[in-house]
Amino acid sequence: MKTILVTGGAGFIGSHTCVELLQNGYRICVVDNFCNSSPATLDAIHEITGKYFPSYNCDLIDEKALAQVFQEEKIDAVIHFAGLKAVGESVQKPTLYYRNNVTGTLNLLEQMEQNGVRRLVFSSSATVYGENNPIPYKEDMPTGQTTNPYGTTKAMIEQILRDLCQSDSRWSTMLLRYFNPIGAHPSGLIGEDPNGIPNNLMPYIMRVAQGTLPYLNIFGNDYPTKDGTGVRDYIHVCDLAVGHVKALNALFAQEGASVYNLGTGQGSSVLEVVKTFEQESGVPVPYQFAPRRAGDLPEYFADASKAMQELGWQAQFTLADMCRDSWNFIKMKSPSERELVAK
Ligand code: NAD
Ligand code: UD1
Repeated sequence: MKTILVTGGAGFIGSHTCVELLQNGYRICVVDNFCNSSPATLDAIHEITGKYFPSYNCDLIDEKALAQVFQEEKIDAVIHFAGLKAVGESVQKPTLYYRNNVTGTLNLLEQMEQNGVRRLVFSSSATVYGENNPIPYKEDMPTGQTTNPYGTTKAMIEQILRDLCQSDSRWSTMLLRYFNPIGAHPSGLIGEDPNGIPNNLMPYIMRVAQGTLPYLNIFGNDYPTKDGTGVRDYIHVCDLAVGHVKALNALFAQEGASVYNLGTGQGSSVLEVVKTFEQESGVPVPYQFAPRRAGDLPEYFADASKAMQELGWQAQFTLADMCRDSWNFIKMKSPSERELVAK
């Protein structure tokens, strides 16, 4: 049985991938500093899978603590989710983002090299396609025209990993470019619930539906899109998790660096997301149109054919599934709801 080190395994995408790995015959160990997550998520992964696994409260910036993890565990490959991801914050605090994301990755790669672990799956983002590519985005399009430090860290790390594979044929990496992950595990035990006022669409809709924020601001209704609102490729986080296991299986059989889009290939507008959420939850989401958000593109979605042809992966869940599962997770967080479900 292979052991996978999952950095950022307590986070939104990492936790769902841990579940999928455990359910597909992998052993895991998790490294997380819980700067954007809670150790309780690790208990929830155990509750879903019935499996125990080691975890380390460790910051990737702390080289000694990371070296200790590699001494204690016999690791076959790494899935690297750990990173900071708030676009606006990255503009305010660029050095924090470059240090955490880029230096953290370099520390990880050095430990991997020292311990002879040379297989890595990396969480990249559609943001690396920048502003100038036509849609749908394909993996061989030019990247790097990023518009914020967060996106630049992703483009830089992709380049570092390509250079590493170029320098030493024993290295093998998968660069996975996620589109817009939403949804939650159908159990309702893990999902996404950011601290403070959310920046991203689905968490914001959740707060409005819960009644903790009065209405949704829809950023722009004059884009050249189907209904004037922004269009994105929303993908269920459980589909993403399956994509990681498929990528990992392929990683053990490949050499060099590969890149895959993980998206559905379908674009949905903000208004479509709101309407679908209302249908699935039965809860109204009041909204008002607001000016465009700086840095937003009108429309983008994936060409997802490469992952289908080469990894045998294709997203299965619909936008309705994503809305239903996101809402289920939020409802389950309320103690009274959990008690009802338990009875
Ligand atoms: P998340 O914040 O929920 O998870 C990231 C995890 O990494 C958190 O548990 C956090 O505590 C941990 N972490 C951060 N810095 C760390 C460090 N220095 N050392 C140890 N742990 C650290 O985010 P997510 O949505 O699960 O995203 C996972 C990865 O996917 C990130 O790299 C993110 O940039 C990337 N990504 C996310 C999205 C998205 O929309 N969610 C889209 C594209 C790419
Ligand atoms: C954002 C980031 C992207 C990152 C991704 C996942 C920007 C410019 N891009 O993508 O780099 O990889 O998150 O973390 O921040 N919307 C509203 N009202 C809201 C929130 C969003 O109308 O309150 C709209 C946006 O204008 C957009 C769509 O909803 O059209 C999706 O927005 P969001 O969830 O923030 O994701 P992206 O902007 O696509």
